[in-house]
Amino acid sequence: MSDWIIETHRLTRDFGSLRAVDQVDLQVRAGSIHAIIGPNGAGKTTLFNLISGYIKPTAGRVLLRGQDITRVPLHRMAHLGIGRSFQITNIFPTLTVLENVRLAAQARGRDNFRLWTSAAKLRAYTERALAALHQVGLHERALQIAATLPHGDKRRLELAILLAGDADILLLDEPTAGMATEQVPMLLDLLRGIRQGTNKTILIVEHNMSVVMSLAETITVMHQGRVLAEGSPAAISANQAVREAYLGTAFAGGQP
Ligand SMILES: Nc1ncnc2c1ncn2[C@@H]1O[C@H](COP(=O)(O)OP(=O)(O)O)[C@@H](O)[C@H]1O
Ligand SMILES: [Mg+2]
Repeated sequence: MSDWIIETHRLTRDFGSLRAVDQVDLQVRAGSIHAIIGPNGAGKTTLFNLISGYIKPTAGRVLLRGQDITRVPLHRMAHLGIGRSFQITNIFPTLTVLENVRLAAQARGRDNFRLWTSAAKLRAYTERALAALHQVGLHERALQIAATLPHGDKRRLELAILLAGDADILLLDEPTAGMATEQVPMLLDLLRGIRQGTNKTILIVEHNMSVVMSLAETITVMHQGRVLAEGSPAAISANQAVREAYLGTAFAGGQP
């Protein structure tokens, strides 16, 4: 068995005549923080959708711990330990913050999305949910209706939902999008804490270059559906092809 927790082999996805992901070979080391960057439309979200099973590839394969999961149906993916947050928020807006997180804890514990369950189990799920809310610093808002949260707190709620689900692999699609600048260090600390305190693997798509450079051990750069470059933060920031793909903006200004 290899070190790779996730591998893709020549992974390809077409939308009509558009090839959104083009023969991508990706290898993600277990327990690492691995960032995917690239200009808008590069295929990053589509790649995430393929890895998490949300859409199926036109060609190519996805392996999880060496096992081919390309044809595993979506409803079984969560049980394999791949959790993801969506760039478009997937929170139940009319439920409280705590209820949202508790449902994620229940989903992992076979009580799939049932609002009613036994009192003892409910207490365990609630405790797990509260622990996740503490981890992201949202415990004081536990009883607030999710829809009324400020945008940055919704992103934190998504993280808490992921943490309560207890996935081994977290797929984060632009977690700082819409976050106030002063909240970004909180997210960095949180992700570093997850990295140090657990053996979770974090695969992250992120536009904020300072976040990527300070967090990721490995960076894969996508451009027009393909892998343009891969390496350490230092190697990527020195890479001429990467600079050209971004026309200098990403590395010059911090954000493209
Ligand atoms: N469901 C879809 N139907 C048609 N085209 C899509 C769909 N999803 C993504 N695309 C196209 O695929 C390309 C890659 O998109 P995406 O993966 O969202 O890029 P990124 O996340 O890097 O910005 C874009 O040209 C986008 O318009
Ligand atoms: Mg995207």
